[in-house]
Parts: sequence; structure tokens; C-alpha cells
Amino acid sequence: MENKIGELTAEEAREDFLELQILLYAADREYNRLDSPTIADAEYDAAKRRYRALVKAFPELEKNATQLETVGAPVASGFVKTTHSIRMLSLGNAFDDADVEDFDSRIRKFLGLEDSAELIYTAEPKIDGLSLSLRYEAGVLVEAATRGDGAVGENVTNNAFQISDIPRNLINAPDILEIRGEVYMSRSDFEALNQRQQKIGEKVFSNPRNAAAGSLRQLDAEITRARPLKFFAYAWGVVSNPLAATQSGAIERISELGFPTNPLTRVCDGPQQMLEHYRRIEAKRAILDYDIDGVVYKVNDLSLQARLGFRSTTPRWAIAHKFPAELAWTWLEKIEIQVGRTGALSPVARLKPVTVGGVVVSNATLHNEDYIKGFDSKGAKIREGKDLREGDWVQVYRAGDVIPKVADVDLSKRAPNSMPYVFPDKCPICKSVALRDAGDAVHRCTGGIICAAQAVEKLKHFVSRKAFDIDGLGVKQIEQFYLDGWVREPADIFTLEARFSTGLQQLKNREGWGEKSAERLFQAIEDKRKIPFGRLLFSLGIRHVGEAASKTIATHFENWQTFEAVIGRASKFEGADWDDLLGIDGVGETMARSLVTAFSQVAERESIDRLVAHLVVENAHRPAVADSPIAGKIVVFTGTLEKTTRAEAKAKAEALGAKVSGSVSKKTDMVIAGLAAGSKAKKAAELGVEILDEDAWLALIDGL
Ligand code: IVH
Repeated sequence: MENKIGELTAEEAREDFLELQILLYAADREYNRLDSPTIADAEYDAAKRRYRALVKAFPELEKNATQLETVGAPVASGFVKTTHSIRMLSLGNAFDDADVEDFDSRIRKFLGLEDSAELIYTAEPKIDGLSLSLRYEAGVLVEAATRGDGAVGENVTNNAFQISDIPRNLINAPDILEIRGEVYMSRSDFEALNQRQQKIGEKVFSNPRNAAAGSLRQLDAEITRARPLKFFAYAWGVVSNPLAATQSGAIERISELGFPTNPLTRVCDGPQQMLEHYRRIEAKRAILDYDIDGVVYKVNDLSLQARLGFRSTTPRWAIAHKFPAELAWTWLEKIEIQVGRTGALSPVARLKPVTVGGVVVSNATLHNEDYIKGFDSKGAKIREGKDLREGDWVQVYRAGDVIPKVADVDLSKRAPNSMPYVFPDKCPICKSVALRDAGDAVHRCTGGIICAAQAVEKLKHFVSRKAFDIDGLGVKQIEQFYLDGWVREPADIFTLEARFSTGLQQLKNREGWGEKSAERLFQAIEDKRKIPFGRLLFSLGIRHVGEAASKTIATHFENWQTFEAVIGRASKFEGADWDDLLGIDGVGETMARSLVTAFSQVAERESIDRLVAHLVVENAHRPAVADSPIAGKIVVFTGTLEKTTRAEAKAKAEALGAKVSGSVSKKTDMVIAGLAAGSKAKKAAELGVEILDEDAWLALIDGL
């Protein structure tokens, strides 16, 4: 018998509320997704009424309720998306001692610190799980979100409620606090789970990480509850009050708030101690009850972390030192050629499946012709110059998330009649000639747009997650649409519905498509007509123009029309517009050439124009920075700075919303001239551009 709401204590109300939430969640899921209600309508309605009444009587529950009220609607298609207020980043990698020394040197250089100056770090295990961000408001857990693509994750609040390591309430916490850390499954729990799964004829997981991911990303929170997940906190996002002045202090505070933190976290005074701790952790790795794949080093002083800031996706102040890759021997059964979106012919080794570090590997990259022959890109021998052949016994390895590679070949097992691999001189798909330019290791198909492989790969890239990310239009659908002749280039996606006024009918009749999914697809396409400039540029799949560069370029030009005009005027690889392009921090000559070339090839340009005609391209904005005197200004640094390094000054200017350019023109707003500034300062003076010395610059940005 349920207690009267008026008689409940706050804690009882909360328990009740959480129970109901799970019940409603499960019922909604069954109803929406499986079309098979598990509870009677009346019971469902009563549960929902009580749920709402509880929220009314205990307003503190409301924070959780707002998003839980939406629980029913979207479960059929997955989780509700959540935008992280501070992006969840990844880490750069170090693979050996020298990389760790370099990390320290890079930081010293950026900060302008002498070798002898003190620089403290923390070192801690890198947990092999999946990251989770937990948002607390007034001490109450209101939202849990997965990392997703770093900017947008999935709301898994209900599931986080099921993890006992994660406190639901905090005492003495900052008003707003986002705790970040890793959800993982212990090895012993993983073994036990798999035994249970096997017994009931359910899916067996290949490693604890996959089991943890599969358990957290469950639409049914009941399933998560039955899976023993754990959590380590190691970072934070938004905080209304600083946690401490140092990384180690903040972790201590997080631990005091009730979160598990890793006991192998140490403070180190430099690379030597960091490496010592790395070896200590490595030695313990086998006896730990959870998987780790390296050691993370972080600059301890949080004010230095702030000065160091971020590259596009990784912090400058932290790095992951990975454990050596795991190795395994297997047969190389076949060498196949894949054709990429830029026409590159990539050889792939088809392997007899083998488990490497808990993951089954059946393919490995072979890079290019030279790599197969036993030479690296500089012509130096790899594998002691041994070539690779079909039928060989090879050693493969995986390091972190990278694609498996071939480390070695055992010549004693090579068949006497085996033949060296002959790299094809034709595209295996369109049969056009495949050329290898002088100085380039890669064979490229010359078929251009007539090559189906290139077209399909371009389309796959176009719809991929970091590009247009159209729900319901994945690799499989793109291949199907291409073969059916419905989509041959990106623009076709946006005319799909119109061209097939009866399209719904046609789509519906295809295997795997129902009326609902077809309608959803057309809606998803519609939703992406409006696209940010940077995303559009990245989606075009132009060689050398990656995600980060696309964003930088977009921010530099702000709007598509200006960008197109500049690219057009730079077609001769010279002149002011070409210099403007090269002046962008992060754009080198190779990238600039590739960009200009793509836009000056008639067929490619027309295809881009056809696409853009269907879109609304959103302007890119430099981060709006309140009270920044240089927001929106174009600044140029020249000469030697004495008090900060050039890198830090540039990063700071960008963080304050300025555009840093490499060349002075009449568009330049400000030149910061250090010691021995030469021609740029002179040109600025001629053009009447404001010139600041370093002290004036520092005074201008003081306290920002
Ligand atoms: S710090 C701004 N510390 O590794 C950087 N990450 O490859 C915040 N990870 O996405 C991350 N253990 O999921 C940090 N001790 C640790 C970690 C850790 C595991 C994961 C995390 C991150 C990924 C980056």
C-alpha cells in the first residue's frame, strides 16, 4: 500500500520518485519501441499521476523531473541529446619516454619557463572505460551525460542513478558543479556478468570496456541497475566556485565530496618522477581489478592549466602516456585495396581473426606500396626490410584506438612458392589508371567523379557524425541509395524527397524502410539544411582539410560568401588573398593548395555550388568574449616577445576573440611588435595601423 504523499519524508519521497521514474521509463520504452505495453493503462496512468504529485509536493525533485518528463517521447529513437556547457575533450598521446620529455619541454616553451624552473604534474592511471559528466545543482544530481562527440552527448541520467559509486546528493558542494570521470566495470564483475549472460543465452561481451558501455547506454535503466558499474572521478566541467588551486587539491576536494578517485594518483616534480610512477603503475597493471591503458599526466597548477588552454580537441596541459601495444600472431590471408574519398588506394590486410588485447582483429592497415615492400615514407627499412605477402604469418598490434597494424612477419613460415605482392596500377573499382606521383607514397585513382568508390566514400564522409550527421542516413543507406541511383552527390540528398514525390512510396517498399522511418529520414534531412559553415567545409571531404582546420578557417572568414570569394581570388596561389589564407594559424601551404584546387576544378566546384544552393549556411563567430577590447579585431604579432611566448600570446588573443593573422594589410587592426620587429612593423606604420609594444599589449589584456 502506498503512503500518502503528505506523510512522506523528503528522502522517502525521493525513493518513491525514483522507483516511479524507472517504472514509467520502462513502460514508455516497451510501449514506444516494442509496441507491447507491460502494464495496464490504468496502472500506468496512476503511476504517472503519483509521479507528478510527488514533484508538486517536493519541489526539489523538479530538477530531475523536467527532463524525466520527456522520458517517454524519444526513447524509441535513442537517448535525448545534451550539449555540454564545456566540451568534453580527449587527450594527446605519448608512447615513450622521449614523448613525455617533449611534453614537458613544449609546456615550458609555451609558458616561457626555464629548464630549472619548478613545474609540478600529477600522474594517474588512464581508466579504460567511458567518460561521463555529472551535473549537480544545489548539491543534487540533475543530469548525467556521455561524452558523445565531445560537444553533444547523450542524457543517461536515469542510468547514472543506478551506479552506487555516483552520489545523488552532495554536501558543501559549489552550487553548480560538473564532475567528470570514467564509468568502468571491474574485471571480476565482467567475468561474472559474462557467465550469467551465457547461462541465459544472452550476448557475451568481449571486454570490460564494451560491457560497461553496453550497460550504461541502456534505454532500460533496469538493465543498467542489474549491471555492476563503477566510477572514478578525475576532472570537472562547470563549477560556480573553484574547487582548489591545484589539480591534486581539486581531486582531494572531489574525493571529500564523496566521489571515488583513483588511489594511484601522485604529484611529481617532473618527467623523471612521472616516468617512475608510470613504471610503478605499469607493474601493478596485471593485479588491478580494472583495465587501464596508460597513465595521464596533468600540470598541477590550475592557473598554469588556464594559461596553457586547449588545442582544438585536446588540452595543452595534459597527455596520456599509453602502455605498449599488445601483440598477437596470425595469418595474413589476403591483401585487398580500398579506394578512399580522395581516390587514395589503401591496401588492407585481411587477417585470420585473432584477439589482441581483448578485441578481435581481422583487418590491419598496410598504408601503401612501400610499406608492404618493407620501407617507411622516408625510404628507411621497417621490419628489417622484410616484405609482406598473402599467406604470411604476421604479428599484429593495436595501440590505443588506432587501427591495427602489422609489426612483423615470420619468414620461416613463408610458403616456398609465395610471390611478392604486386601493387595494382588500376583502380579496382572504376578501372581508371592509378598514378603514384613522384615523392608521394600513395597511388591515386584518376577517375575523379566517375569513380563509384570515390563518390560513395565522399558521400559516407558527408553524412558522418562530425559532418552532416543525418539521423537514419548511415553507411548502409548511402550505399543502397547510391546503387539505386537516388543519391550520386551530396546535393541529391536534399532533393530526395522532392524528386520522389512518390518517394515515400518507393522508400517504403524497400527492405528495412517503413512509412515512419522514411518520414523520419526526410525530416532529419530537412533539419540539416541549416548547417554551420565549419561543418559544411569539413563535410566536403577536401584532402588535408580536417575538422579542426575547417572550424579555424570558418572562424577566420566568418561567412561562406567571403570565404568562396577569397578562395576564388587565390586560384593562382599568389596575391593578398593567398597570403590571407596562409596567414591563418594552422593552415599550411599543402592544405591551402588543396582547398584552392578543390574550388577551382569545374566539376567539383559545380557540385559544391549545387549543394550550397539547398542550404542555409550559418556564419561562424569568433567566441563572443565579454569586455574584450580585441574581440573581432585582426591582430598580427611580430618580433621577439620577452614576457610571454609567441604561442601563448597568440592563443590568448584568440581566446579573447581576436583573429590572429600572419601578414599585415589594411584590414589589420593592431600589430604587436616585440624586439627587433622588422618589415611587418614598418608596413603597419605605413598603413597607419595601430602598433603596440609588448608592455602595452600586456596592459591591454591585463586581468582578462
Ligand atoms: S583527463 C581535458 N584523466 O581518456 C581532459 N581522462 O583519451 C580530461 N580517461 O575522454 C580527461 N582516465 O574518457 C583524464 N585519469 C584520467 C582518465 C581519462 C581515462 C579518458 C577520458 C578521456 C579519454 C581521453
